[in-house]
Amino acid sequence: MRKNIVAGNWKMNKSFGEADELVNGIMTLLEEKELPENTMMIVCPPFPYLEMCTDYSNDSYFMVGAQNVNDNDKGAYTGEVSAEMLKSLEIEYCIVGHSERRAYYGETDAIVARKVDQLLKNEIHPIVCCGEVLEEREAGKQFDVVRRQITDGLFHLTPEQFGEIVIAYEPVWAIGTGKTATPAQAQEIHAFIRGLIADKYGKEVADNTSILYGGSCKPSNAKELFANPDVDGGLIGGASLKAEDFIDIAMAF
Ligand code: PGA
Repeated sequence: MRKNIVAGNWKMNKSFGEADELVNGIMTLLEEKELPENTMMIVCPPFPYLEMCTDYSNDSYFMVGAQNVNDNDKGAYTGEVSAEMLKSLEIEYCIVGHSERRAYYGETDAIVARKVDQLLKNEIHPIVCCGEVLEEREAGKQFDVVRRQITDGLFHLTPEQFGEIVIAYEPVWAIGTGKTATPAQAQEIHAFIRGLIADKYGKEVADNTSILYGGSCKPSNAKELFANPDVDGGLIGGASLKAEDFIDIAMAF
């Protein structure tokens, strides 16, 4: 059975002290509350705080993920972080192809594919983001865009490798804007993505793939989003920066 996942993408926020406080807050709340069955939380802090988060969690409260990875093995790539480095810190998840990386750092589907390969080689689960921008949605092109991103970024994988992937559908017009996709809009695309996976890899692989929704997901709308049969959780930006909100979202299942 596929897992319900609530992953927090902190983006480029928080000082070390603030990050420490946030993680502490998350831990304290998780000690008090029991997460709904089959629900897993992932915290994705900036690189410098990864180890602090893994030290805290010890895998028992939440998993820790990175927000990015380089697509090469190692070498002269100043400022970059490799999948092997993440593995050596025992990181088990990593976001790839976030729309901010696609928009600001030229991350193409081909680069996404190479990053996914690096992560899988190092036994790290990629959380692969897809989603259309506003003009594409207005032109009715959201299905074509998502099909291209999934096909070119992931369909070179074997069925076994695909089993390690988490997908996040994040309509770009909903990220950080306060505009959320309606539950029906989310369900429509999530079902479409699961259909693409089923066509390529079969129903079993598709049924076992967690597909998260991202884009202004918060405690007040999580319940109706997660109630959809093909929405298996959320990739949470802004609302993951407050321990209470982040936990409340996970309690929405
Ligand atoms: P948001 O960001 O929740 O702040 O809209 C989501 C994301 O970019 O992953």
